Amino acid sequence: MQQEQTFVMVKPDGVRRGLIGSIVARFEQKGFALAAIELLQIDRELAEQHYGELRQKPFFGELVDYLTSGPVCAMVWQGEHAVENARALIGKTNPVEAAPGTIRGDYAMDIAGNIVHGSDSAASAAREIGLFFGKHAAAQRMDPYAGEFG
Ligand code: TYD
Ligand code: MG
Repeated sequence: MQQEQTFVMVKPDGVRRGLIGSIVARFEQKGFALAAIELLQIDRELAEQHYGELRQKPFFGELVDYLTSGPVCAMVWQGEHAVENARALIGKTNPVEAAPGTIRGDYAMDIAGNIVHGSDSAASAAREIGLFFGKHAAAQRMDPYAGEFG
């Protein structure tokens, strides 16, 4: 089966509220394999690069303030269709629209504090993994289902 990696980040409010464990558990239970994880305080430059596509948006300054307001938990998760599966697990950008059962649907109230990030494409995932983990490459994990079906 085709393995893919995606970048996921518990944002500062998720870390402050003690939700790292719950979020990690959801990814494990879904069937993803953890390939890298780090708790870190990011600077404005990294936050601005990460959200570079949104530089012209009116909320960009507040978004960077938010992302640098405390430690984040940066992760690489691996599995089949990892990018799309992660986005489905995370839920819609605005928690008001995110279905119950999704991470944002269950844990967040407001778009400006929506708890978690997930890459929106394979190209974004490669770029974001490079930004956050650089030369410390994420581990290549076996398909977690391989023991059963492989
Ligand atoms: P975006 O990449 O559009 O959403 P997603 O995180 O689902 O990929 O936007 C990045 C973050 O910017 C989003 O998680 C929350 C914030 N944001 C706002 O604060 N206000 C907005 O109107 C939008 C669209 C996003
Ligand atoms: Mg996005």
